[in-house]
This record gives sequence, structure tokens and C-alpha cells, in this order.
Amino acid sequence: MLMKPDRRQFLRIFGIGAAGVLGCGPSDDPGDPAGPSGDFVVPPLDEGELVGGVRVFRLRLQTGTVEWVPGAPTETFGANGDLLGPTLRLVRGEPVRIEVENGLAVTTTLHWHGLQVPARADGGPYQTIAPGARWTSDFDVVQRAMTAWYHPHPMHETARHVYMGLAGMIVVDDPALATELPHTYGVDDLPIIIQDRRLSADGTHPYSPGKTPGMHDMMSGLRGETLLVNGRITPHAVVPRGLVRLRVLNGSNARIYHLGFADDRTFLHVGSDGGLLSAPVETRRVLVAPGERVELLVDFADARPVELRSYSGEVFDSLYTGMMGANLTDALDRGTFPIMTFEPGTDAAPVATAPAAFDPVVREPESEAVRTRPISMAMQMGGFTLNGARMTDLANVPAALDLRIKAGEVEVWSVANTSGVAHPLHVHNRHFQILDIDGQPPPPELAGWKDTTIIRPGRVVRLLVRFEGTPDTERPYLFHCHILEHEDMGMMGRFFLVA
Ligand code: C2O
Ligand code: CU
Ligand code: CU
Repeated sequence: MLMKPDRRQFLRIFGIGAAGVLGCGPSDDPGDPAGPSGDFVVPPLDEGELVGGVRVFRLRLQTGTVEWVPGAPTETFGANGDLLGPTLRLVRGEPVRIEVENGLAVTTTLHWHGLQVPARADGGPYQTIAPGARWTSDFDVVQRAMTAWYHPHPMHETARHVYMGLAGMIVVDDPALATELPHTYGVDDLPIIIQDRRLSADGTHPYSPGKTPGMHDMMSGLRGETLLVNGRITPHAVVPRGLVRLRVLNGSNARIYHLGFADDRTFLHVGSDGGLLSAPVETRRVLVAPGERVELLVDFADARPVELRSYSGEVFDSLYTGMMGANLTDALDRGTFPIMTFEPGTDAAPVATAPAAFDPVVREPESEAVRTRPISMAMQMGGFTLNGARMTDLANVPAALDLRIKAGEVEVWSVANTSGVAHPLHVHNRHFQILDIDGQPPPPELAGWKDTTIIRPGRVVRLLVRFEGTPDTERPYLFHCHILEHEDMGMMGRFFLVA
């Protein structure tokens, strides 16, 4: 089954007209605030401003509109624009300050998903920013080169604020890393933020002001039939002939994608959440759950246009089981559907060949773990639970979800999912390694660094987490299901790093 969302679109994103947009497709007309339909756009790259050795970024959260449905603008949230936000480029080793101004009418937060930062700088639900207020996040970039992202994280409202449009990519660069990977932002190094929306004819969606999704959508996680890439509906990108790096972020609230190309070409999976794998993995498919990032190298040297699709139906049975699974999915989850198209242009790609290997990811030894912590995901008490409980109140967290972990300690998290549907588990501040999945070592594409990973129903996944970081007994980090509706309903816990 192939479903084609309506490709007509007249939208205005990333500020006024095409200003600040690195057009990668056929040229955007900068005079037309609506913009042409179907063209791929790249969020502007923001490298900050060096002030006394500190790289300073400014993000203003604001409301806007986007006209996905012709004649019926949708109300949106964005950072420095109507929708989404700039891609922040951070440099390993540098001190960073991000100044966030909340121009929304509601309290929110801004979390750096995938960054290793002190808890006070993490931007989770405890670091709220009132309407009109500012919040400053200061930290040093201590981690390896990778792709991260930012999104709001307010208690009970994360799903709404992300769905309204607040999210952006973060690229961490490491000047010491001699990589021959494509690295020209917007040319051969492209952010691909995949999201889905359920849009009504009047331009509203279930999180539009005054609306709230029903219980079924909260249980399944809100899925929609309109596929967006960087805010545009199933867009068309003109790319150089040759090797192109795609930094894919699943920024959807709930939908899992099983990506592949319509001509079934192979591509190289080179990076996971926490950076490059040991070596490129040649594949035809890659599974990406909400919150996860994958870096891919695709060869467009053959000059043939091709569609990027989700072959969701191929993995349906492993992600959804029994009655629960059958009830909480939609037709797209069982089928194949387009995400965007690529058309090789006339320019040759700057990088011709893919490296054969990268710095090896050193596997973390299980012997260093001081304990094994069981984490359960279940369907209980009319909803999904984590460790048999739910975190529904920031001040009053059930003991099973309120952890204190000594900074520097290494733990095995043994995550068992008995709920009938897949849940992507995310841990703040740390990148972990997957020790095994049902006792089997992870495949090479899952053997690198991760901060979010799919726990399929009926499986036990063991993670090795090294809890390094700045001790802070006042401010916790979070761990949760990254289906944002599940998180909002309390499928979340917190941990303090203590001395
Ligand atoms: Cu991407 Cu706690 O979140
Ligand atoms: Cu996070
Ligand atoms: Cu979940």
C-alpha cells in the first residue's frame, strides 16, 4: 500500500519568506512569503557568536503560522521563526551559553537532547521559563562529534509544544576529528527532521490551541498522515551528484519510521545518537524511533531521482503485538509511505568516497557495572507504566522512579517491555551502549553510542550506562519513553547524580 499525502503546500517557515533559509532545492523565491510548494528547505545554521571565548546563542521562542492547508493557516511555535528553529553548531571543548527567551504565552522549557550537560543546564521539566522570562544554559561541550537536538520539555505539555513546532537540530563538531565525511551544511550534509501531523481542513490539529487529543491518541501517541521534513510536506530536494550525508532526526511525537529508498538501493549507516559507529554499516533499511538520530551516507552518483520511504509494514509485527498493538496503530504503521524525494543535480558532491572505518567505539565492559537495575515497561492501571508507576507530579515522584546514582558509577539497566507496543527509552545526559537484546549482542548499527533506543514488546534490552557528570542533589535528570504522549502521561522517572 502506498499512501500519498497531498503535496500541495504553500507555507512560510523559518521567518519571513526565504530569508535565513538555505534553499537546497530549486531556488525559493525570496519575495514570496508563501514559498513554492514542495521544496526542501534547510533550517538556518547558527554558529553563535564568540563573546570572551564563550560561544553564545540566542533563541527566542515565538508563535507563528504555517500554511500547510491552503487558505487555512496553522498556528505554530518556533525558535527565531514560525516553525522549528536554527541548527546550532557546537564545537567540542568550547564553553557555550544559550540564552532562551520565552515569547510564548505559556510556560515551557528547552532541553538539549543528547548533550552531556550539568542538570541545571539540561532544560528538563524542572527548569521552567515563564512567559516573557529568560533562561540561560551554560555548559562546556565535552562530548564527541554527533547530532543532537533541542525541544521543549514542560511537565504534561511536552507533546503539545513539540507538535506546535518547537524543535531544532544540534550538530556537535570536533576539530580534532579528521573525518572525510561530507561536511558542508546544507550542501552535502543535510538535516532531515522527520515529523508527522494530523491536519484538519481548517488547518488545526489535535494540539491546536483549545484542543486536546483524546485518550486513544494519548495511548497510541499522536500519529498523523501528513509527513513533514524540516517543516515541509513530503518535499523534493536537489542534491549534489555523489555522496550526501543525511542527519536524520525523528522529531515525531510517536511514529516510528523504517526508512529505505524506493529503488531499494543500499546506503551506509555511519552514526547513531552519540556519534559515529566503528565503521559504516551497509544496509537497505534503518529503523528510527521518536528522539533517535541516525547519520546516513547516500550515494547519488547515478543521477537518478529517488524517493525516501518508510517501509513501516515490514516491521509492524515486531513493534506491535496482540490486541494492544493492533488497537494502537494506524494504516501508515502497516504500510509503506513517502517521506521526501531526492534528485541529483548537476553539481558534483564535494566528497567522493566514504571512509572505510572510523575511530572504533570501545565497547564498555559489563564487569565495571556496580549493579543491575531492572526497568519495566508495562500496560497497567489503564495506561503505560515505568517500573510499575508513573511520574505525574514534579514534586512527588514515586520511589520506583526516583533514583539517586553516584556520579561515576556504571549500571546495567535491564529493560523489559511487556506492554504490547514498542517504547523508545531515553536517558538524559548520558550515552549508553546496548549490551544485548534478548541475550544476543546488538547488530553493528546498534553497537555504538545511544541515548534513545527502541524497546520492542516482549524483549529484554540490557544497557550499560556510565553515570558520569556533575553531582547535584537539587536538580535531577530524566529518563522516559520518547513517545511524547506517554512521557506526558508519566512514563518517566528522574535520577539525581550524587557525590
Ligand atoms: Cu528528548 Cu527528555 O527528551
Ligand atoms: Cu533528553
Ligand atoms: Cu511509550
